[in-house]
Amino acid sequence: MILLPLLVVAVIVTDQLHLGKRTQLPTGPIRVPCATQGKVPNISDVYVIHSYWSKDRGHLAPAICDWFKGNGGNLSSIPCTTFPGFWATNASREQILELIAHRIVAPETHAKRQGFFTWLLYWLGFNSAVPLFDDQERVINPSYLGTAASHLLAVQNWTLEMSRMEVPPAERTERHLLLFEDDAVVTERSVEELQSLLPRLDPCYDVVGLDSTDNFCAPSRAADVLWRLIRLPLSWRPSTRLVPVRTCYSRNTGLLISYKGALNLLSGLPVTREIDLWFRDLMTDRVLKAYVACPRVVTTQGLPTTDSHLWDQQALGGGA
Ligand SMILES: *[C@@H]1O[C@H](CO)[C@@H](O)[C@H](O)[C@H]1NC(C)=O
Ligand SMILES: *[C@@H]1O[C@H](CO)[C@@H](O)[C@H](O)[C@H]1NC(C)=O
Ligand SMILES: *[C@@H]1O[C@H](CO)[C@@H](O)[C@H](O)[C@H]1NC(C)=O
Ligand SMILES: *[C@@H]1O[C@H](CO)[C@@H](O)[C@H](O)[C@H]1NC(C)=O
Repeated sequence: MILLPLLVVAVIVTDQLHLGKRTQLPTGPIRVPCATQGKVPNISDVYVIHSYWSKDRGHLAPAICDWFKGNGGNLSSIPCTTFPGFWATNASREQILELIAHRIVAPETHAKRQGFFTWLLYWLGFNSAVPLFDDQERVINPSYLGTAASHLLAVQNWTLEMSRMEVPPAERTERHLLLFEDDAVVTERSVEELQSLLPRLDPCYDVVGLDSTDNFCAPSRAADVLWRLIRLPLSWRPSTRLVPVRTCYSRNTGLLISYKGALNLLSGLPVTREIDLWFRDLMTDRVLKAYVACPRVVTTQGLPTTDSHLWDQQALGGGA
């Protein structure tokens, strides 16, 4: 009598257990591991954003790649790609909608929710948003849109190329991208300084800004004087040449990006504001672990379409 219901229950329970096993999912988002501790990062690619349409700038990106081949020292043998930038001033409405559809950029109403601290900084008026689109979802400044889209399309292309080439995931975490704007000024000294920074780089870094302004570096220099005064052993002193940043950010003229950093950047898409602000928001939200190189490793020619001077005036504080 009682056997039949028991049997039914037993069948249901074993079935459920089985189902549970079959559809078992990871308990949280899978984290991309950091690069190997103690291994000097191996820069695997150079990308230079190419303003292929521009009379004034069109020759710059190919010239940087040529320069690397001839003068790049240890970096002369790695592939250098001129990545076509997004020509925002000549983009059709359809091309802009396509960017939105691919979640590269979006109006502010589509923005990712901010963390409490980021929200607080905006609320207190320390920051002001410079959106890419106005209330009618029209482009406010094509140069902001072009810069944001070009950078993120380049980062996305770098990761997609690894998928296309079927690079094993464990190998990808040991890859690092050098991404330049075409008006970056790279010298032999830049390459040497960059090489000397690599051994001390945090294996969990996401992004290193190579064109930091002095207001990031002054506080770390001051701290170093203090450490010297109290005779703190050298190995205990934080590096004065790689300064962590959280609440402000400088320019994107030259960036070193880890594979983990690339995925973290892409996880922050879409870009809804001027790219430097968007980067800063991701840092404040702890999506990105960022550093700047002090003193700067590359400089910029400061051509008119770069819009970053605006940000220099706002970045009053030092590394946080
Ligand atoms: C660095 O990367 C290049 C190409 O990605 C590879 O050929 C080389 O073996 C790597 N070097 C080390 C030390 O891992
Ligand atoms: C702007 O883009 C369109 C296609 O989207 C192209 O036909 C046109 O030649 C471009 N403008 C210029 C000045 O090249
Ligand atoms: C990456 O960009 C290059 C240059 O535009 C293009 O030829 C290539 O197809 C892109 N790769 C992927 C996977 O989208
Ligand atoms: C260049 O690479 C070689 C080995 O690949 C290494 O011994 C040397 O220290 C590197 N140079 C610099 C400046 O890092």
